[in-house]
Amino acid sequence: MISVLWSGFSCVSALITLICALLIISKVSLLLTVLLVAVSLPSAILNQTYTKKLYQWNLTHVKEERQMNYLSFIMTDKKYAQELRLFNIGDFLKEKFKAIWGPYFAKKKKLTKKRAFLVTLLSVLPQLCILGILAVLSLRIMGGNNTIGDYSLYSGLLAQFLSSLMAALTSIINIYDQKLRIHSFEEFEAIPNAVANTGTEKLNEITSIEFNDVSFRYPGTEKEVLQHISFSVNAHEKVCLVGLNGAGKSTLIKLLLRFYDAESGNIRINGVDIKNYEIVSLRKAFSCLFQQSPNYAFTLRENITISDIFKNADENDVLEALYNSSASDILGQMADGLDSYLSRAYEENGTELSGGQHQKIALARTFFRNSSVLISGTPAAKRRFSRRTVCRTRLLPTKSSS
Ligand SMILES: Nc1ncnc2c1ncn2[C@@H]1O[C@H](COP(=O)(O)OP(=O)(O)OP(=O)(O)O)[C@@H](O)[C@H]1O
Ligand SMILES: [Mg+2]
Repeated sequence: MISVLWSGFSCVSALITLICALLIISKVSLLLTVLLVAVSLPSAILNQTYTKKLYQWNLTHVKEERQMNYLSFIMTDKKYAQELRLFNIGDFLKEKFKAIWGPYFAKKKKLTKKRAFLVTLLSVLPQLCILGILAVLSLRIMGGNNTIGDYSLYSGLLAQFLSSLMAALTSIINIYDQKLRIHSFEEFEAIPNAVANTGTEKLNEITSIEFNDVSFRYPGTEKEVLQHISFSVNAHEKVCLVGLNGAGKSTLIKLLLRFYDAESGNIRINGVDIKNYEIVSLRKAFSCLFQQSPNYAFTLRENITISDIFKNADENDVLEALYNSSASDILGQMADGLDSYLSRAYEENGTELSGGQHQKIALARTFFRNSSVLISGTPAAKRRFSRRTVCRTRLLPTKSSS
């Protein structure tokens, strides 16, 4: 939006200069001045047409752009470095990148080349008109109707006209380009959220969770991942969901946290359908250690407190979370204590933790949240999850799994 405003101001300023220059130049030859304006317009129209074409072309090639970004990410991210070296797949990835980049670049080049050619061709027309105006002026000077001083005045004005024309065109193209982007963003914003946040009830303490005949398939897929699942968990119970890989254990948790809504059946907490709860308050009641917990390139303190940034916590809460996840020794190794950076990606003095240490920090994060229900999607946290109501995501075999 700021860019559009800025381009708008630049455009107005260029147009004012342009009109003033034209008014003075018209005294030399009105006909050539009108012609000058007329031949400047096709270039503007062409630029606008190609801006739209390029934008639409980009929209239809988002998949290739994403694939290339993904390959660049793999080739540069630390997470993949070990396998990249061990499997010696540098060239393999480069070839994959080239296979996408080659046809992508060839098509884009064709489009931009055509644009560059036409724009160059059309921009010659105003130059020819300027030559005509200068020729008329020279004849007048020779006829004694104008002075040499007039020549330098008008040639300066013509140069100013051209630069203002270019500035106005660039601003108009920029505004048009931004308008197209804003339109796409508005279309995106208008897509209704698959999970409607229409509930108003607040959820605090959880006393019971019930799954009643819940079935679910992921959007855009055929396979019914969960089929008629029913079970209940009451306060202070520790429940272990056991099932084959892909049976749907993690999916159950996603439904409970309303990352998706069940296709049929319902989930009730304290006897109330979870759709009646306000989503933030529903999620606040759960602390979940996901199977693939991320690590944050932040300080140790932030890596813990990020699970509940609004909690009015003091240092003891952070230390307690670390203690509960057996991570106190990690703190002992840190030069800057809780303010040590858990990555060297952006801080030279940061600390790189081991995989197991990272898991402990993720677990500490789960404890810090101090929610009504704790859920762990990883067996590693089993021993430490004994103090509260626990819901380990191991689902009993569903009809689909065995
Ligand atoms: N985002 C998704 N879109 C489509 N299908 C998915 C998605 N996530 C998972 N699935 C599919 O849903 C099924 C259940 O996956 P889920 O992650 O719930 O299994 P799980 O029981 O947690 O397995 P694991 O023990 O390996 O963690 C799998 O067949 C998986 O391929
Ligand atoms: Mg899982």
